[in-house]
Amino acid sequence: MKALVWHGKEDIRCEEVPDPRIEEPRDAIIKVTSCAICGSDLHLYNGFVPFMKSGDIMGHECMGEVVEVGPEAKGKLKVGERVVIPFTIICGECEQCRRGNFSVCETTNRNKDLAAKAFGRTTAGLFGYTHLTGGYPGGQAEYLRVPYADRTHIKVPDGLSDEQVLFLSDILPTGWQAAVQCDIQPTDTVAIWGCGPVGQMAIRSAVLLGARQVIAIDRIPERLDMAKAGGAVTINFEEESVVERIEELTKGKGPEKCIDAVGLEAHATATLDSMYDRVKQAMMLESDRAHVLREMMYLCRPAGTLSIPGVYGGLIDKIPFGAVMNKGLTIRTGQTHVNRWTDDLLRRIEQGQIDPTFVITHRVRLEDGPAMYETFRDKKDACVKVVMTP
Ligand SMILES: NC(=O)c1ccc[n+]([C@@H]2O[C@H](COP(=O)([O-])OP(=O)(O)OC[C@H]3O[C@@H](n4cnc5c(N)ncnc54)[C@H](O)[C@@H]3O)[C@@H](O)[C@H]2O)c1
Ligand SMILES: [Zn+2]
Ligand SMILES: [Zn+2]
Repeated sequence: MKALVWHGKEDIRCEEVPDPRIEEPRDAIIKVTSCAICGSDLHLYNGFVPFMKSGDIMGHECMGEVVEVGPEAKGKLKVGERVVIPFTIICGECEQCRRGNFSVCETTNRNKDLAAKAFGRTTAGLFGYTHLTGGYPGGQAEYLRVPYADRTHIKVPDGLSDEQVLFLSDILPTGWQAAVQCDIQPTDTVAIWGCGPVGQMAIRSAVLLGARQVIAIDRIPERLDMAKAGGAVTINFEEESVVERIEELTKGKGPEKCIDAVGLEAHATATLDSMYDRVKQAMMLESDRAHVLREMMYLCRPAGTLSIPGVYGGLIDKIPFGAVMNKGLTIRTGQTHVNRWTDDLLRRIEQGQIDPTFVITHRVRLEDGPAMYETFRDKKDACVKVVMTP
């Protein structure tokens, strides 16, 4: 089959690889009908996350049709059914899964020891996302092997198109969880850093959950326009001071809730802290650039919440923890517990409350994937979200 294969920094190729097959009784194989590129894939493309190996198949946002089912998944899945595959592989049975903490499933990571070495404890297996999370082949391919398939799926009701439901795999529940974790009150201002696909979903979720004011920050004009269309007041951080504008918009008190939808590759306009981060990250003395985190920690209103869906990999420097502690801020973060939210979100899609297709700017064939990584990374051609069909 064809798949997008990682060979190193900025080197992703569309290649022939062996078809996946059933390896465990709970597996299923799906024929991928749609898949997408995520901002998290860019961290791998840009070589910022270690534990990738040449030959790894990329992708953790995909959906398709079930073509083969292992004996122990048969009660739950049938050949021919349409499913969206969550990026988190879940067993559904461990203590964390039973609490709905799916992204920290205790069972599904086949490299638990590696994860425990990096993080103290294991986290869930993820598709196409480094050997730290199990080294599972991803879904930017014609076929995908789904481990623990009896639990690791979301069934698609008749009548919904691929594009309407594809983002249940990741960015829609990710933006939603980021907003839900803010416990939004009707009096709240929610400030969201980053207007990529995740930021866009967080903006619409925060509006839907009844925030009084949503502020969106980025520097890419078309992404800011999309944020405005979703109901946000926007700040272009290259043209205006984030600090001054936020002071104005919150009458000098700061937003009650702050969301970091940027992650470890934050850009900043020549501030001292960002130059320091770039140098340290380049010298491998620091794995992540923390400019957005610091800005949120300073600007957030006392007793407020920082919700962090943006991905961080390792160590960061110069975190103003004194501000977090003395202002009594709450930090909520994590890879998304996808299946915790998808029943509710699917219902909202069916009822027309949410239509996640608005982020799609590029529809291409899988073969065009390697070029689209660059287009998406560099925000060329007004690219916000790429959907590929194998
Ligand atoms: N927690 C999860 O489960 C989960 C799931 C999906 C994605 N993610 C992460 O969410 C983040 C965003 O993903 P995406 O797909 O939207 O990626 P993206 O790269 O398209 O979007 C990031 C956006 O942040 C903007 N940005 C950069 N520096 C900024 C700054 N200083 N202030 C404001 N905006 C700034 C960029 O211009 C860009 O538009 C990534 O870190 C990704 O890994 C996490
Ligand atoms: Zn993702
Ligand atoms: Zn589990």
